[in-house]
Amino acid sequence: MIPTRPDLTLAARDLFRIDTDLMVPAFSVADDHVPPIDSGYVFERETTLALLAGFLHNRRVLVQGRHGTGKSSHVEQVAARLNWPCVRVNLDGHVTRMDLVGKDAIVLRDGLQVTEFQPGILTWALQRPCALVFDEYDAGRADVMFVIQRVLEVEGRLTLLDQSRVIEPHPAFRLFATANTIGLGDATGLYHGTQPLNQGQMDRWNIVVTLNYLAHDQEIEVVLARCPEYRTAPGRQTVSAMVALAALTRQGFADGDLSTVMSPRTVVTWAENATLFHDVALAFRLTFLNRCDEDEQALVAEYYQRCVGHDLPAETARKGPPVR
Ligand SMILES: Nc1ncnc2c1ncn2[C@@H]1O[C@H](COP(=O)(O)OP(=O)(O)OP(=O)(O)O)[C@@H](O)[C@H]1O
Ligand SMILES: [Mg+2]
Repeated sequence: MIPTRPDLTLAARDLFRIDTDLMVPAFSVADDHVPPIDSGYVFERETTLALLAGFLHNRRVLVQGRHGTGKSSHVEQVAARLNWPCVRVNLDGHVTRMDLVGKDAIVLRDGLQVTEFQPGILTWALQRPCALVFDEYDAGRADVMFVIQRVLEVEGRLTLLDQSRVIEPHPAFRLFATANTIGLGDATGLYHGTQPLNQGQMDRWNIVVTLNYLAHDQEIEVVLARCPEYRTAPGRQTVSAMVALAALTRQGFADGDLSTVMSPRTVVTWAENATLFHDVALAFRLTFLNRCDEDEQALVAEYYQRCVGHDLPAETARKGPPVR
């Protein structure tokens, strides 16, 4: 029997390897919606504490940060360790109110066609122990966002107008969101397709936490967890150089010298590609350099030289303009 409420209390220190004395509620049995545990996941302390407040105190938590920094997987991995069912919804521009709330559909019952209400994902999740995560929250359509606004308040009931029914949230329902921008529009130009968010709506998120980049050593651990073949002394050195280069691109971006940043996701992909091609430099070009503006490639090649310790091979540093 799967419990409908958390029936365990566990120490967050042991679950997430972070410095805290917090005890957190968890489920003793996992249902099908509990995400699989990624044992190599590295938890960032502040984000983890914010998410745990969401689970423990029913706070609405929005995680914001640059692309590929582990926002979506962070929520998922916290839920995984609490055995808390968790469903992720990508709030792209095609998600409609009907997808969220539900609609009447014709179904066959005992050979007869009957009209039946099919709950949308929000209606469905609201009624069960479930952490609902809206990914790409800043890409949602304005009319859709107003549906979410109603349930953002903790006691937020959902009124199904055509059903004349009011749905009470389950006591173990939780709501999270992830976004690249903070709802004030995209000042960086990196996140085309995002929208400024209604501030009345932003106001309803109880906790807004920023997850950008991990410390150097932690980021190395993330890469080593994904690519264990680098768990040797030279391998670790290579990964350290990759992470250092990524940090330079982030600094370069902050200083206005670069228009592309290397995300932790890209560092992992670079390490994976380097294994596939047996060539760190070639993998670098194919994973990152080719994505950089032509005018900025010389600077990126210089970063490479500084971190890896030798120049990018001539055939790897691009000669001539890229084919467009
Ligand atoms: N702390 C971490 N520990 C382990 N893996 C990580 C960590 N951070 C990021 N990753 C890995 O990096 C990749 C990107 O993570 P994720 O998709 O969660 O990022 P995101 O912040 O949601 O990105 P986006 O803004 O593009 O949606 C995943 O493969 C994830 O496993
Ligand atoms: Mg994401």
